[in-house]
Amino acid sequence: MITLDEFTIEQLRLYPQATGELSGLLRGIGLAAKMVNVQVNKAAIADILGEDGGAINVQGETVQKLDSLANNTFINVLRHGIHCAGMVSEENDDMIVFDDPKNNQSKYVVLMDPLDGSSNTDVNMPIGTIFSIYRRVSELGKPCTKEDFLQKGDNQFAAGYVLYGSSTMFVYGTRRHSVNGFTLDNSVGEFYLSNPNMKMPEDGTTYSFDYRYYHCVNDKVRKFLDFCNESKNGEDGRYGNRHASCMVADLHRIFLKGGIFMYPSRKQKPNGKLRLMYECNPMAFLTELSGGSATDGGKRIMEIEPKDIHERCPIFIGSKKMVEKLEE
Ligand code: AHG
Ligand code: MN
Ligand code: MN
Ligand code: MN
Repeated sequence: MITLDEFTIEQLRLYPQATGELSGLLRGIGLAAKMVNVQVNKAAIADILGEDGGAINVQGETVQKLDSLANNTFINVLRHGIHCAGMVSEENDDMIVFDDPKNNQSKYVVLMDPLDGSSNTDVNMPIGTIFSIYRRVSELGKPCTKEDFLQKGDNQFAAGYVLYGSSTMFVYGTRRHSVNGFTLDNSVGEFYLSNPNMKMPEDGTTYSFDYRYYHCVNDKVRKFLDFCNESKNGEDGRYGNRHASCMVADLHRIFLKGGIFMYPSRKQKPNGKLRLMYECNPMAFLTELSGGSATDGGKRIMEIEPKDIHERCPIFIGSKKMVEKLEE
C-alpha cells in the first residue's frame, strides 16, 4: 500500500529539477485534514456542533463552530509549515499573508474552502474541504500579494478536496499528473492510495440540483431539468436525482459514477452561490483533468478572469456528455 507521502515523493522523482515544495505543501494539507477529521468524528460529544456565537462571515452566512475550527486548523498548519506564502479562505475577509522569512521563500499560495457543506455538520452528513494551489507571480523572498491569488483557474498548479464521509478521502491532482484518491486508515492515521488515476465516466445517469430553486432559475436551465426528469408513459424518469447539500460529496459521486452537478444563477442570487476561487475552480480543474467538463453556462469555468477573491459564479460540472447535453 502506498501512502500519500510516498506517492507525492515518487511523483517528484520523475522531475529532477523539482524541489519537493509541492509534496511538502500537500503533506501539510493532509496533516490538517487528519486533524479536522478527528474533530469531525467526535463533533457531537466535543461540543463543536452548532453556530459559532452568531458570527457572520464575509459571504453573509452564519458561521458554524466546525467552519471556524477547520479554518483555524488549516491556517495554523500552513502558517507553521514552510511551503505556503499565504492563503485565501472562505471564512476570512482578506487574504492572509504568512509574512515570515521561511514562507516568503515559498513559491505557492493556497485558496481554500475549509469546510464545505456547513448545513450538514449538525446532522452527521458528509462534509468536505476544497483547495486550490497556484504558483505565485510575485517576487520570491517577499510577502505574497493579491495578484498571486487573483489568477484564472487555468493557471492552477494543483487542486484537491477532502471528503469526510463514511470514510475520509483525500483526492488531488496536479497539472502534470492525473487525479488520485487516498483513503484514511484511521487506526494508523495514514492516507493510502485507493483510487489511482481517477477518470470521470463520459456519461452518467444522475443529476444533482436542489429542486427548491426550480422556479427561480432561467427557462433554459428549467428545460434541461425537465429533460433530466422526463418520463415516457409514466415510466421512471430519465436520470436519478442525487443531492447531498455538499458540493464535495455530490461531485465525489460524479467522479466515480458519472453525472452532472448544477448550481445555476437564480433571481435572488444572480451569480449563483458557489465561489469561483475555492469551490468552482479547484473542482473544475480536477474534473477536466479526469475527463469531464465545467462551465458557467457561457464559458469554461477556468477561463474566467477573477476580479475578487470571494466572487461567485454559476456552475454546471460533470460528465462530458451530460454537460454537452445541457449546453445543447
Ligand atoms: P459552504 O458550506 O462551504 O458555505 O458551501 C456549501 C455549498 C455547497 O456545498 C452546496 O452544494 C451548496 O452550498 C448548498 O447551497 P444552499 O445554501 O443553496 O442549500
Ligand atoms: Mn459557507
Ligand atoms: Mn463550500
Ligand atoms: Mn465552507
